[in-house]
Amino acid sequence: MSNKKFPKNFLWGAATSAYQVEGAAEEDGKAKSQQDVLNELNPVTDLAIASDHYHRYKEDIALMKELGLKSYRFSIAWSRVLPNGVGERNTKGIEFYHNLIDELIKNEITPIPTLYHYDMPMALVEKYDGWINRQSVDDFAKYAELVIKEYKDKVKYWTTINEQSIIVQQWTKKNYIPKKYINNPQIKYQINHHMNLAHAMACKYVHKYVKDGKVGANLSYAPIYPLTTDPKDQLAAQNANDLRNLYYTDIYLKGKYNKSALIYLENNGLAPKIEKHDMDIIKEGYSDFLAINYYYSNTAKAPESNAERIEPGLNLSNEKGKSAKGEIQPGFYEMVQNPKLETTDWGWTIDPTGLEYVLRELYSRYEVPFMITENGLGAFDKLEDDNRIHDAYRIDYIREHIKSMAKAIEFGVELWSYNPWSFIDILSTSNGYSKRYGLVYVDRTDEDPKILKRIKKDSYYWYQGVIKSNGEIL
Ligand code: BG6
Repeated sequence: MSNKKFPKNFLWGAATSAYQVEGAAEEDGKAKSQQDVLNELNPVTDLAIASDHYHRYKEDIALMKELGLKSYRFSIAWSRVLPNGVGERNTKGIEFYHNLIDELIKNEITPIPTLYHYDMPMALVEKYDGWINRQSVDDFAKYAELVIKEYKDKVKYWTTINEQSIIVQQWTKKNYIPKKYINNPQIKYQINHHMNLAHAMACKYVHKYVKDGKVGANLSYAPIYPLTTDPKDQLAAQNANDLRNLYYTDIYLKGKYNKSALIYLENNGLAPKIEKHDMDIIKEGYSDFLAINYYYSNTAKAPESNAERIEPGLNLSNEKGKSAKGEIQPGFYEMVQNPKLETTDWGWTIDPTGLEYVLRELYSRYEVPFMITENGLGAFDKLEDDNRIHDAYRIDYIREHIKSMAKAIEFGVELWSYNPWSFIDILSTSNGYSKRYGLVYVDRTDEDPKILKRIKKDSYYWYQGVIKSNGEIL
């Protein structure tokens, strides 16, 4: 099958997020986000410096230009724009994103900002427990309106909230949760409901203020396969897909909660409290596309009849891919390991075919365009004596995923953009700089920021050729 199917204007890009690269965590008026505090409580690396993108964005954009990027997906830090979450604006923070966006546009790189990437302003956590409180919806809406109006003439593509399903599955890691709530898993579905409203408000503002503006959420989406051909496992996989995937996409793309997932949550005392006009707000804030973050696939089987509930994210491994394994929703599904697939050093399955599966499954269901806003391989990269990073494993990973995108396009899927994770090395949430994703190496360790020199990896040079040939030379 040929790869000629990537449209001429396809946006070959790369991605990062604010707290994972910017640094300057409390500089120029920025206040702490919950990520800064979570990292202080469980230190992995230095968020005050991270990859120092805040000070080196021009150097980084020059590297993007040389690579040939057509798009850059990044996130805006709420607490850089509004240090208290609400109220007084931070002029320097607003100016930083103007400068960043201007520099991208000057270099013919389309900016694709995300409004929220796990970094609720700590001031709002202290004030009212953050997303747990419904006030967060209004405050996020005000922040989103401000940002969308501010950059509306420069930014056409907007993404709203990063990975709501991961925020639910790993609710104590992706949110600062006060102790009194920890034993109440219903809270995570309430947080999600507030985010659904917040997302809808942001969509509404993009449609209101941005001429030809397009908006969608970033969702981490892993296909769920049945472990065996036993119809009970098939049904368990369907149940898991309803609760872990369609529960989110049906909201974004149909304006409704997935019925069977919601009934399961209601029967188990986990459903969110939904107020009278909430579903109207959600329906009104429709999405134009879905931004998919794809890393791995999952597998499910029917649970034993006497199995007890195990929620993901609390008592299991720190990592997302692994945390799926072991989750039990009694009478519904149990997440298990897939014996057919290899895994990364962190136990995440490597499954490029799953990307074609996801794109085609979602396109048949919703018929909307997609962007890939994250996809990549976390690895222990090594700076060799020749001062290069020979990351052939990353090239293999990305190549196979691009082939799957090409096949999905051949089967009619509309795909606008591909933004591998990540452009430069970022700090991985639970693993700091020992787990690297970048096309560009940032020479630092968790303990020592050194001089943060940028070094192009082999994958950088390889991706340069992919972009130049519009996906034909892989
Ligand atoms: C995505 C997140 O879930 O996965 C990123 O949006 C994250 O923020 C990426 O870095 C990889 O996960 P991890 O845990 O390896 O950093």
